[in-house]
Amino acid sequence: MKTRITELFGIEYPVIQGGMAAVSDADLTAAVSNAGGLGILNSVGSAEALRENIRRVRELTDKPFGVNVMLLMKNVEEISQVIIEEKVPVVSTGAGSPKNFIAAWKAAGIKVMPVVPSAKVAKKMEDLGADAVVCSGMEAGGHIGEVSTLAMIPVAHRLCTIPIVAAGGIGDGRGVAGAFAMGAEGVQCGTAFIVADECNASDGYKDAIVNALESDTRVYRNPGTGRNVRTVTSPLVEKYFEVLKEEGYDKAKLLMGGGLAHAMKDGDPEQSTFMAGQSAGAVVRRGTCREIIERMMQEAREAALEQVEKWR
Ligand SMILES: Cc1cc2nc3c(=O)[nH]c(=O)nc-3n(C[C@H](O)[C@H](O)[C@H](O)COP(=O)(O)O)c2cc1C
Repeated sequence: MKTRITELFGIEYPVIQGGMAAVSDADLTAAVSNAGGLGILNSVGSAEALRENIRRVRELTDKPFGVNVMLLMKNVEEISQVIIEEKVPVVSTGAGSPKNFIAAWKAAGIKVMPVVPSAKVAKKMEDLGADAVVCSGMEAGGHIGEVSTLAMIPVAHRLCTIPIVAAGGIGDGRGVAGAFAMGAEGVQCGTAFIVADECNASDGYKDAIVNALESDTRVYRNPGTGRNVRTVTSPLVEKYFEVLKEEGYDKAKLLMGGGLAHAMKDGDPEQSTFMAGQSAGAVVRRGTCREIIERMMQEAREAALEQVEKWR
């Protein structure tokens, strides 16, 4: 399938693996890009670690890839400089406005794709010169806003002329077909790629996603960022809500530091926050990145053709 997103990034499938702090390392990024999607490396950490990770991605793939910049990071200026020096093809941004960086990235020939929580902000990003925009609904895993993907995409499609990527809640081909029907020209998934064979998450984390239904996630305030985060629930998360109710946020937040690190390393449910979206309900099996992307696209095609028959 060709869309403005596949053309813009030079990729085979309009499927993007969203940047995920602590999760989207060089292995996952390169595997998604090698499978014909766009892998996005996370840049949370030092600028020098990012430089090494970018070089590692390049050892593993010669395909286009991106780097995600969390704009609330203290070393964002240094991170931006490394991205320019290493000639990264695509930058996606989260947690703030990339206003002060867009001109420098574009001057360096980098494609810029901010992640936004509403259609209004999507339009703002278009006016600032973004090449594409990821509209991320509150169904998503990780940090979230308040608008759903379903409500946001048609409005963003109406307001913007740049291509729109839908994120949040998309875990299978029916979700992809739905996003395209709403006006998106690409999808960004996080949760669906955590269960990939090439993702270095623990078995416990992958099982928690595969076994979850769409109603098995909860939203809590991340003590590190002060913003809302969606996670598949676990005994730790349930304990957080108990303590929150009985003793308040200052006590409850003490439980949550290190939950994602445990999910990645050991998957112990007593200590893990299995950060993931409502799309976990649609993610029902593991596989390689290639299997995940090709299955999604095949299911999407079948779902779209099924609709054509109904409307005829
Ligand atoms: C564990 C985890 C960490 C994430 N970290 C980031 C991040 O650092 N920067 C960012 O822009 N988005 C982040 N996200 C959001 C993803 O890039 C993606 O947009 C989102 O997962 C899409 O929704 P889905 O989970 O329903 O597929 C994260 C998501 C997850 C699940």
